[in-house]
Amino acid sequence: MNKLSDEEIEYMSKCLTEGKPLPDSYRYIIPFETKKEYELTYEGKEREEEILADTMAVPLQPVKTFGDGNGGWTNKLIFGDNHQVLKALMDDPEVYDKNAGKGKVRLIYIDPPFATKQEFRGTQDQKAYQDKIIGAQFLEFLRKRLVFLRELLADDGSIYVHLDWRKAHYFKTLMDEIFGEHNLVNEIIWNYKGTTNSQNMYARKHETIYFYTKNWGKHIFNPDGVRIGYDDLSAYKKDKGGKWYKQWTKERRHYPAQEFMNGEWVLLGKYRYDVWDDVPSMATAHGSEYLGFPNQKKERLLEIIIKASSNPGDIVLDAFAGSGTIGAVAEKLGRRWIMIDCGKLAIYTMQKRLLNLKEKIGNKGKALKPKPFTLYNAGLYNYKMVKDLPRDKYREFVLKLFQCRDEKHRIAGVELDGYLCAGADDDYLY
Ligand SMILES: C[S@@+](CC[C@H](N)C(=O)[O-])C[C@H]1O[C@@H](n2cnc3c(N)ncnc32)[C@H](O)[C@@H]1O
Repeated sequence: MNKLSDEEIEYMSKCLTEGKPLPDSYRYIIPFETKKEYELTYEGKEREEEILADTMAVPLQPVKTFGDGNGGWTNKLIFGDNHQVLKALMDDPEVYDKNAGKGKVRLIYIDPPFATKQEFRGTQDQKAYQDKIIGAQFLEFLRKRLVFLRELLADDGSIYVHLDWRKAHYFKTLMDEIFGEHNLVNEIIWNYKGTTNSQNMYARKHETIYFYTKNWGKHIFNPDGVRIGYDDLSAYKKDKGGKWYKQWTKERRHYPAQEFMNGEWVLLGKYRYDVWDDVPSMATAHGSEYLGFPNQKKERLLEIIIKASSNPGDIVLDAFAGSGTIGAVAEKLGRRWIMIDCGKLAIYTMQKRLLNLKEKIGNKGKALKPKPFTLYNAGLYNYKMVKDLPRDKYREFVLKLFQCRDEKHRIAGVELDGYLCAGADDDYLY
């Protein structure tokens, strides 16, 4: 920790006695503000208190309910920037208990942009989403969302954050700060395999999923639901009752763990470990579930997460929902869901997916009618009201609304007010 100079101490006490805020540069050198033993610092890192207080909540405007809501809970598909939407969800008594200061979401999974510097398009070359925020800005972009996600998570809830080799390591540290180091349950390595011709390095074939709980020990975990299946059953036979066994000697049979499910005995397999190599990527095994959405995840991946860390009836949430894999699997497993995305293609793909569900994982089997869900707009307002704001308020509103960095600059002689951050594509702006 830096030692304060006499001038700095004098300046600080002057600020404090005059009731003035301390400049940002003092944040990391003031001993009483640095509660943590260690911390990741980077440019533009705001204090959690500021993030929670300064984020503008956007009203959620219901656009259409699919199916008969009957006035009760309907699943939520929200079109908007998740930063403000998450804040808005803290005003929703179905999702957050304000009096108790407690969230009601049992499970969160997010698969955000990975800071790849790319623009992703659908199979018909439609704009899907931008992944252009990099460096410290990316860290702060995602950290802000994680702060709100923690608030919305139930006391016995869990969160899974999916990243890759580019930024995962920073988020292990940031998640430790936000959720507490002791609340890390697993660092999951998803080894999706696939062919490679890599000549100058080891082929990159894994992504990382950090699994934290809100409160270690209170969290739900269902190990039986997610055992590793048997790829090769040739060593096993069935007895007259249909039970599986392995012949050890001529006389002795060994019966492995199995359960009677849907009219037959099913081998339970080994307990799952933190390296998952039995779930292919969409690129290696498209299957009938593929919708052409870039970086769409397999339903099997979400099946494991949802089965392990939630129970039927629980609310599961994905704030970077993309093609809606979490919602599709939640429907199949009887969970309630909230999905947020700021891309038009994503919202369109999700609506279509939900209305064409099949009952089995991988989108197979009979048709499945989804539970009623409501599509909300967040951040689309009465334009006249916004236009009538005084110029400075209008500028502030628009910059905040679209998560732009407030930084005037010029491009080809044209003065611009700031930079657009990840996710929001141009179509979404107008
Ligand atoms: C990697 S994709 C998610 C894919 C998803 N897991 C699936 O299985 O289809 C990331 C998504 O995050 C969305 N996104 C990025 N920034 C966002 C933001 N600020 N608010 C809401 N959604 C955002 C993008 O539009 C994109 O659809």
